[in-house]
Amino acid sequence: MGETSAGEAGEHPSQATAIEPADVAKTRRIDGSAHDVLFNHGRSANKWTDEPVSVETLRELYDLVKFGPTSANCSPARFLFLHTREARDRLAPALSGGNLEKTLSAPVVVIVAYDPRFYDKLPTLFPHNLDAKNWFTSNEGLAATTAFRNGTLQGAYLILAARSLGLDAGPMSGFDNAKVDEIFLADRGWRSNFLVNLGHGDPSGLFPRSPRLSFEEACILL
Ligand SMILES: Cc1cc2nc3c(=O)[nH]c(=O)nc-3n(C[C@H](O)[C@H](O)[C@H](O)COP(=O)(O)O)c2cc1C
Repeated sequence: MGETSAGEAGEHPSQATAIEPADVAKTRRIDGSAHDVLFNHGRSANKWTDEPVSVETLRELYDLVKFGPTSANCSPARFLFLHTREARDRLAPALSGGNLEKTLSAPVVVIVAYDPRFYDKLPTLFPHNLDAKNWFTSNEGLAATTAFRNGTLQGAYLILAARSLGLDAGPMSGFDNAKVDEIFLADRGWRSNFLVNLGHGDPSGLFPRSPRLSFEEACILL
């Protein structure tokens, strides 16, 4: 496929000049406190305070997530924000026992889903290459891999964007995907990937931080 062809880099004069190079350089490195918020001190929350999360904040959250990169700008993720008690109660039958209480008590639960027919929007999302939709309509396997890979990335962007807004996130895969699809997504044809509880974490619900792999264990320098 031609995503990395010269066309992609060269056919956007208007977008290329949208941000001045000097401004880009200034924003390239974030300060130490951002590292702490996003990574060093960011934890997966299991317990929540009563502090609510407004719909305005959820819109702000999506407005950050949408700028995270996806291949051919395909943006396959779809997000269902369960911000009412009724909506979260509908989710309950699909949750594993260990995830039930923390999910029902979270101010918001996000179903991170993806649209298997994401390619229908490529003429809008990737307008400089009108062939892009055909890359996927002609190759079912590529379409499925692309939807899942990029939808998962966008779910990760959601976790970090939430932290950047002062929220805590509790990602979860302990649930029945088929049930969630049946309850919430059947009419749209979208598929669930994972869930993310959102709110303000109560530190009393945290376990001690688990170890991580060292550079030597996880990385190879070639
Ligand atoms: C995709 C994904 C699925 C997860 N599923 C669950 C889950 O079903 N239940 C749960 O309690 N924690 C779940 N977690 C939380 C992880 O156990 C947690 O992120 C990990 O142990 C690191 O914890 P920390 O962020 O506090 O360091 C999940 C995390 C991710 C990213």
